[in-house]
Amino acid sequence: MSNLSNFLIDKDRTYIPIWFMRQAGRYLPEFRKIRKKNPDFMKLCLNSDLATEITLQPINRFNLYAAIIFSDILVIPHAFKQKVIFKNNDGPKIDEFQLDKFLKIDKSDFLNVLKPVYDAIKKTRKSLDKNKSLIAFIGAPWTLIIYLLNLKTKDNILMSDLKKNKEKEINIILEKLIEFLKYHIQYQKEAGADVLQIFDSWAGLLHKDDLNNLCIEPNKELVEYCKKINIPVICFPKGLDLNYKQFIKSVKPDGINIDYNVNPKWASENLTNISIQGGLSPELLLKDDKSIFNEVDKYLEIFKNNSYIFNLGHGILPKTNPETVKKIVNRVKKFYK
Ligand code: CP3
Repeated sequence: MSNLSNFLIDKDRTYIPIWFMRQAGRYLPEFRKIRKKNPDFMKLCLNSDLATEITLQPINRFNLYAAIIFSDILVIPHAFKQKVIFKNNDGPKIDEFQLDKFLKIDKSDFLNVLKPVYDAIKKTRKSLDKNKSLIAFIGAPWTLIIYLLNLKTKDNILMSDLKKNKEKEINIILEKLIEFLKYHIQYQKEAGADVLQIFDSWAGLLHKDDLNNLCIEPNKELVEYCKKINIPVICFPKGLDLNYKQFIKSVKPDGINIDYNVNPKWASENLTNISIQGGLSPELLLKDDKSIFNEVDKYLEIFKNNSYIFNLGHGILPKTNPETVKKIVNRVKKFYK
């Protein structure tokens, strides 16, 4: 058995690695305890000792194949000196985007703010089992732009007119984001991360005419950069539905995370020559054991001939019982014995 990094390169089919998006988070009492004492979420993300401790919490509890560094995609706007506000239930917001400030930030300003992320990766790598992977991540440019310019409503509907008005600004931001996200990938890799995941959580809000320019092309440029510096990459363009197929054909990542709206049978047959990750609805983890195991077994059965990484179709919900996660890990591990 190899680590997740080699699994992705080899497109291994001989076993099923398992980890969870948001495996370090609010469903864990040990996380909530730290969070209570650290009301400023950005500050917590940029505290390398606490970020290391939080990253290792789910690893200590469950026998997972990989750790994902505790951070957030919104450390990027923060590093561009845009004020990120986390309000309860309302989702995070950027106070008021200032293009002049954004354009003035240079590489060393940016990397200085993010240094604690790289320190946390170094510290985590030291404590983490050698045979376990350490996953770093970034938000894809379009998803970061959604937050930077507040382009969606509370009900997650794209404000199309606002987007149209900001077209010129979007193109300027896009170019700089791609350049700086490459730095963030490079430094995370050099600190010791051996897999990268790109979250394009709001890809599904794009009109089909924008899919290429705002989702596929930026993801492709970042994936090509990962290939150049030799770090395997998993993309998660959430909400693309049948366009997942077009996405992987153009972007060619090593792995693709499917969301809970993707039909797993369709994915198994249509997303080929790639490792497939995830799919299971996070809501399922709130149900009874019988329903959970039925659905877990269904995914294991459907993907038994694919290179498959067990995960969810989005992050673990805060209401999830940690014992449920343990039961799923055991079930998946038994499947191959
Ligand atoms: O365990 C892990 O997966 C690693 C850490 C991680 C966090 N955020 C920590 C976090 C990762 C990989 C992310 C990614 C992230 N952050 C995404 C992409 C994935 C997705 O969920 O679509 C996005 C869009 C964000 C932005 C963000 N950060 C939102 C929308 C929120 C608030 C609501 C929510 O989903 O939790 C956050 C806060 C956040 N990021 C928390 C954690 C543990 C909760 C903070 C808290 O209130 O305690």
